[in-house]
Amino acid sequence: MARESVSKTFIVAIILAGLCSLMVSGAAIGLRSKQEANKIRDRKKNILMVAGLYDAKASVEEAFQQIEPRVVDLASGEYVGKDQFDPETFDQRAAAKDPKLSITIPAEKDLAGIGRREKYSLVYLVKKDDKLDQVILPVDGKGLWSTLYGFLAIDGDLNTVRGITFYEHAETPGLGGEIDNPTWKALWADKKIYDDQGSVQLHVVKGAADKNSPHQIDGLSGATLTANGVTNIVKYWLGDDGFKKMLERLKAGGA
Ligand SMILES: Cc1cc2nc3c(=O)[nH]c(=O)nc-3n(C[C@H](O)[C@H](O)[C@H](O)COP(=O)(O)O)c2cc1C
Repeated sequence: MARESVSKTFIVAIILAGLCSLMVSGAAIGLRSKQEANKIRDRKKNILMVAGLYDAKASVEEAFQQIEPRVVDLASGEYVGKDQFDPETFDQRAAAKDPKLSITIPAEKDLAGIGRREKYSLVYLVKKDDKLDQVILPVDGKGLWSTLYGFLAIDGDLNTVRGITFYEHAETPGLGGEIDNPTWKALWADKKIYDDQGSVQLHVVKGAADKNSPHQIDGLSGATLTANGVTNIVKYWLGDDGFKKMLERLKAGGA
């Protein structure tokens, strides 16, 4: 074979491509467990943040000791035992896709646009002097371009919002992405979820909220479609098909 030939060039290129793909796939496999651990840590950090318990100087793992994760059966509102699902390892995202662990949501009820929902959900309790101080609920649903994943923190009175955060979405920065704006998120604190009849009234309006309304949040200018998505997520997850049964059980004095 000639010292410089087309076939030699191809052989070198193929060997190089093979080596590079081995390196890339090796790195992807090697880093997977680290990426998973980082995702879990990030989720815990978001739970601490929405609960107002995050301290940048303290370890997330240590701070998370203040939080008691439980798994709730959404149909009954009752917690399920660790023998059925361990909150430390329960994979809610996987459960939402598993036909055995999820239900199809009829179109007329599917406000959040998610198609299926998990039968069991994680919830996070914060207790003070053995009394429920707040409960943090995972929520998700469609925005304009993407599914928004977040947490809503509710006061121990089970009607007052403590905070909201979205830890994953792909809305447009500067438009729908303004759901991450701390100033907008701060508007949610102290708003009321339900009216006296127990119906979900909390919602994002178009434009400025009525200052006298306990249920209204300012709109996101140029991003009404994402904002409507947030309203629908709140309505779905705090309604009869979501966490309402559990919240009513707790309100009635259930542990
Ligand atoms: C490139 C592009 C990206 C957009 N991204 C968003 C978005 O993330 N969220 C959203 O609600 N609207 C987004 N919009 C605007 C919507 O199409 C729609 O006009 C807007 O939600 C209406 O809100 P407004 O009535 O407050 O203007 C985007 C528009 C364009 C052209």
